[in-house]
Amino acid sequence: MYDRFRRRISYLRVSVTDACNLRCNYCVPSCRVTWLDRSAILSFEEIEALARGALNLGIDKLRLTGGEPLVRRGIVKLVAMLGRIQGIKDFAMTTNGVLLADFAADLRLAGLGRLNISLDTLDPDRFREISRGGDLSRVLAGIDAAILAGFQRIKLNCVVESSREEADAQQVAAFGRERGFDVRFIRRMDLQEGHFWPVYGGEGGHCNRCNRLRVTSDGRVFPCLFDPRSFSIRKYGIDGALRRAVADKPARGWRSDVSFYAIGG
Ligand code: 5AD
Ligand code: SF4
Repeated sequence: MYDRFRRRISYLRVSVTDACNLRCNYCVPSCRVTWLDRSAILSFEEIEALARGALNLGIDKLRLTGGEPLVRRGIVKLVAMLGRIQGIKDFAMTTNGVLLADFAADLRLAGLGRLNISLDTLDPDRFREISRGGDLSRVLAGIDAAILAGFQRIKLNCVVESSREEADAQQVAAFGRERGFDVRFIRRMDLQEGHFWPVYGGEGGHCNRCNRLRVTSDGRVFPCLFDPRSFSIRKYGIDGALRRAVADKPARGWRSDVSFYAIGG
């Protein structure tokens, strides 16, 4: 499907939960206490139907995000349901890695193609500070498990304050080089303020060649990360919501009031 600006829309990012086992300071506000209600969250059947509906419209790249996708109960079953869909060329997940040591092998068997793992620092104290209490050793164990499970082309997402010259980012870059991982440096953004930047080494943030739609875990399709408009698949139907989102995709982002933990970056 092409949008008004002749961009071919081929990539769907689906948040499977707004919950997370970390609370990174750039993502979760310190005051956050509520999560979406269970009944609001899309069922596995709805997500499968969404992926199939998207594929019918020519969207053949699929990524699961969160929150943290691995805290969604039954995630391996969902991955298996999606992994069987013929025609999806690229099936990936973005994870913080904390639970990967438990899940990597099963995810691979269930048909997941690729992993992006968030890694902002290699210093355990800095990690604890950024993620408000997280344990870096679990993430590193998760990365090892992902390699052992046979995942290829693992990418690391590294959020930086303002540049990849920062000490934390440099260490992540060296770690990535040693292990042959691509590292994407993402400048910390503020959706509400409309502060956003292209991703170094990645595709995000280049509005003129943006090919993506995003879906929150309660089924709202967002044409753009930096635009507040959305179309619920429960209101418009899968096909209707996807078509409306493509038709309404703005030339470039502006600002939004959704949070990263809801839309998955
Ligand atoms: N700015 C940039 N990226 C963010 N993410 C979450 N919050 C932000 C933010 N404020 C992205 C990061 C992280 C992924 C889960 O979401 O890439 O690795
Ligand atoms: Fe969780 Fe990722 Fe947000 Fe950190 S950035 S709180 S790991 S969703």
